[in-house]
Amino acid sequence: MGFEETFRSVGLTLARSISFASHAFLFGLIPLLWLVVRPSFIRLQGDDWAKSRLRVSARLEGMVQSALTATAVATAIALVLQFALVSEVQGGEITSEPVFSVLETRFGQLYLLRFPLLAGLAVLLIGRVRQWSLAGAGDEGPMASRAWWIGWGTLSFGLLATTTLSGHAAVGSPLLLSVANDLLHLACGATWFTGIIVLALVLPDGWRGRAPEERVRLLASMVVRFSTVALVTITILGITGTVNSLLHVGGLRDLVETSYGLTLSAKIALYLGVLAVGGVNHFYVRRKLNLAVAAGQDAAVRGLFRKTIAIELALALGIMGMTGFLTGEARTKEVVPAGSDGGGVSARPTP
Ligand code: HEM
Repeated sequence: MGFEETFRSVGLTLARSISFASHAFLFGLIPLLWLVVRPSFIRLQGDDWAKSRLRVSARLEGMVQSALTATAVATAIALVLQFALVSEVQGGEITSEPVFSVLETRFGQLYLLRFPLLAGLAVLLIGRVRQWSLAGAGDEGPMASRAWWIGWGTLSFGLLATTTLSGHAAVGSPLLLSVANDLLHLACGATWFTGIIVLALVLPDGWRGRAPEERVRLLASMVVRFSTVALVTITILGITGTVNSLLHVGGLRDLVETSYGLTLSAKIALYLGVLAVGGVNHFYVRRKLNLAVAAGQDAAVRGLFRKTIAIELALALGIMGMTGFLTGEARTKEVVPAGSDGGGVSARPTP
């Protein structure tokens, strides 16, 4: 592989991984807020947690803005790399033709569609996440309108759909199963991934400056709630991931003999790591947390939590990176044409 080809391949893989992670955060934050973060603060009502809520929502606002920027840049880079590839195939002349060729494919159109979706999300979310994401969760203030949450959910789900419809899922057979299964895989992946990010990077903002017995109450409440969410999403990810594998892998031997299969095997190994840490959390950390709440002490259990969440964060980022690589490889199951215009979508464009 020449330098240019390697550069393009690494660039596209990084761009895909960054977009997966950003879309996951933009969508997954909604179930996370409603199932984990808001109920945890509501439970602490009565004490003065206003400053903590403010710090958490300010941190979430910053992360939402970073995710919006990151996926806009990654999508633009993916398009430019694709223009460069087509231009090279067409003889290397600098004309507008490669741009039009890419924008005529389903890949080009769906990637382009991300920009209006991101613009809509920017209008809805910038300045508002700080104000509304935790409004009414433990204070007397008014909650954000239902329209705001629905708008956020619809646009961010649209972003996830641009991934599904521009990738292998769009040529899986039966098509409806392939697309629906992939969307469910993405939605559950987004919720689990965001949970790890929030527990690892945002939760400490919530407990900063509090007494040990208060810190451990917030920690226990969030971890226990997230552990149920993780149990459900990780189970569904295993099932939908297996269905995805059956739809895209030609045979068992492909798992060790092809680049697609080997990448998928590595991803499954990381998933087994997630299951192992999840088991430790469920059966050991939760028990320790309950004991710590009863004793009003947080030092030992916080150290334990830091270790397990750091491992989970590394696994989560590893899975996103691995998936960015996986989706750029040629799947090993043959494409059934079935009258589709699959030519542009048999895989995300690869160098
Ligand atoms: C924590 C667990 C997991 C996360 C966060 C995750 C995340 C993702 C993401 C973001 C995609 C991209 C979807 C797309 O391109 O439309 C994907 C695709 C996929 N996942 Fe997973 N996944 C997980 C577990 C699994 C497992 C356990 C398996 C296998 C048993 C699996 C197999 C696949 C396959 C085959 C695809 C399709 C790739 C392609 O388009 O060629 N995943 N996953």
